[in-house]
Parts: sequence; structure tokens; C-alpha cells
Amino acid sequence: MRRQNKILPEAVLKFVPVLFFMLEQIKALQAEVENAVISNKEQLELFRQKFSSKKGVISSLFEEMKALPPDEKRHVGKPLNDLKNLAENLLKAKTEELENSLAASVKSPVDMTLPVFPNELGTIHPLNLVRQQIIEIFERMGFNVSDGPEIEDDYHNFTALNFPENHPAREMQDTFFIEKNPDILLRTHTSNVQIRLMENQKPPLRSIMPGRVYRNEAISARAHCIFHQVEGLFVDTNVGFADLKDTLYHFAKEMFGKNTKVRYRPSYFPFTEPSAEIDISCDIDNPKGCQLCGGSKNICKGTGWVEIAGSGMVDPNVLEFCGIDSQKYTGFAFGMGIERITMLKYRIRDLRLFTENDVRFLRQFEGE
Ligand code: DAH
Repeated sequence: MRRQNKILPEAVLKFVPVLFFMLEQIKALQAEVENAVISNKEQLELFRQKFSSKKGVISSLFEEMKALPPDEKRHVGKPLNDLKNLAENLLKAKTEELENSLAASVKSPVDMTLPVFPNELGTIHPLNLVRQQIIEIFERMGFNVSDGPEIEDDYHNFTALNFPENHPAREMQDTFFIEKNPDILLRTHTSNVQIRLMENQKPPLRSIMPGRVYRNEAISARAHCIFHQVEGLFVDTNVGFADLKDTLYHFAKEMFGKNTKVRYRPSYFPFTEPSAEIDISCDIDNPKGCQLCGGSKNICKGTGWVEIAGSGMVDPNVLEFCGIDSQKYTGFAFGMGIERITMLKYRIRDLRLFTENDVRFLRQFEGE
């Protein structure tokens, strides 16, 4: 120390304790920076405040350094700058490190380790399936598809279809009325679309009309107040009963298989004359069980025949109601229940299954 003192000029000696103290401080701070533990944001912020902020220890040492004479500044300047850089580099490195680990710790929205989410596709409802099959069969025979209102007036649902004024089907027991006088109701059959079609288009007409219908019935295994029908209408010159027979014969074979037999039973509908109900054969002699009843015979009731549709030649009165010349044109019509066709085709015993949405039932039609 003595020797040093000798070579230091007087002016400098005055600052020696300050200089010494500052260098000691820098050394201690350097050790502190080197050993700093920064493992979270709070520690990072405390470090920044202490070493890298304007009010921090390094800034105040720079302030203190300003009071030193130029020669002395040299002694302090270098280590102080080194300390500053050391602190800044550490701050920068730790900031990045923490940001990266934070990003990594934020959970990815996709957890690849989870088992596959059971995102199952739904199946086509059996009624839609059969509706589509019916449409395709008739489209191949040149029929198009027409649509009409479910909320209908009395005229289109009954009067224009030749229903007598006091016909029982017009009664409250069967029909859901929305308004009385004039009567507005939920259609009881899809035959209303026949009328709307003939009112709006000129023959030749060849159309099928699928849709929902309503009847005031108690819900059971065999009946529902909401169900579906497909109406058919063919109007042209020279249309005869043979055309009706052949068309529905072809339909039955396409729908139920080529061995299906078809029979026509005389019947009555106000809007057709003559009228017939159409039955298909239930193969009761088949040792593997008949096609429709599955051996139980409780659908064909042991007769070997099951009804699938009503039909007939369009009554000339109906053509005239729609402004079609009944001398020039004739036509046939038919109507069938989609639920009934579906039940026969897939041997479904209870109509209520169609509306209960039980997936165990609906899944059985997958891939049909
Ligand atoms: N509309 C009749 C019903 O609901 C079904 C029907 C029978 C429609 C004969 C027709 C037909 O077009 O010709 O029971």
C-alpha cells in the first residue's frame, strides 16, 4: 500500500477510499449476479429492479463514478461496465428461458394421449331409408316427386276427393281440426297432393307424393297419430286398370323380392272407381319362416297375404273437380303407408319404435 501511495498523485489519493470501496462493491455485486437464483417471474423482476433498473445498484454506481476524476474513472469504468453487461446478459438469458418454459407448460389444446373421442356417425332413419327406396323404384318407372301442404283446407283433403258431406272420415274422431268454418285441418292422407297437382299441372301426370299425415288415433303398436304415406298418381289418355296392376306388381317385386306375389282385392274409396286393395304374398310355406312374419304368422294371420296399399282408377268426378276433361283423360292412383312397408320389409313389430329414438333400434339399419 505504501509503495502504491507513493506513486499515486495527491489528487488521486483523496479518492482512494471511495475507489476502493466502489471496487469492493462491484466485486460483491458481481458474485451476487453470478450466484443469482432466478427460477420464476418474481425472482426475475426482483433481479431486474436491483441490477438493471434506473434506480438499481449498477446505475447508482455509474452516478457515483461521475464524481471521480478522469483517471480514477478508468479504474472503476471497466469493472462496472463488465458488471453491467454480466447482469444484462443474465437478465436476457433468464427472461428467454422463463418465457420458453412458460410456453411449454401452457397445455396444448390437443391432448394426443387421450383415447379417440367416440364421434359416431348417425344412421339413416328406417322410414327415410324406405321412403328413398320407394322413390327410387318409381323414379325408374318415370315418376317424379311432388310435395303438398300438411295444413290443408277441407276442400283439398275431402271435397275435391269426392268425399260425401257426411262421410265418417270428416268427423272429429279421425281428423285434427285447426279451425272450424271454414275448416282448416291437418291432412289425414297424402291424397290432397293429387288434387293440388292436377289443379296446377296439365296431364300427362306421373308423380309420387311422400309425406306426413295425421289422424286422431290412440298410439299403440299398430297405430299412431302421426305417420307417413306415399301417394301415386298417373293421368294420361288411355290409362287403364292393367297399367295400375302392372305398376304396383313391379313395385312389390322390387321392394320385397322377385318371388313376391301380388293380389288385388275389390274395395271402396270415394276418390277411385273401381277401387282395390293390394296384398303381397307372405311365404307361409317356407320352412325357414315366412318372409314377412318370420315364421310367427301373426302379421299375415295365417292367410299368406298382407295388405300394402289402396288403389283404383281416379273417379271422373275428381278429374272434373280439378278441371281435367274426364272424357279425354283417365288415371290411376294409389296410396301406401311408409311405416307399414318398413315394418313388413324389416319385420318390425311395434310402430312406436320409429319415434322413440332408441339407438339400439336405429343402429340396426346401419349400412342398409
Ligand atoms: N288415401 C287413402 C288412405 O289414406 C289411401 C289411398 C287409397 C290413396 C286409394 C289412393 C287410392 O290414391 O287410390 O287410406
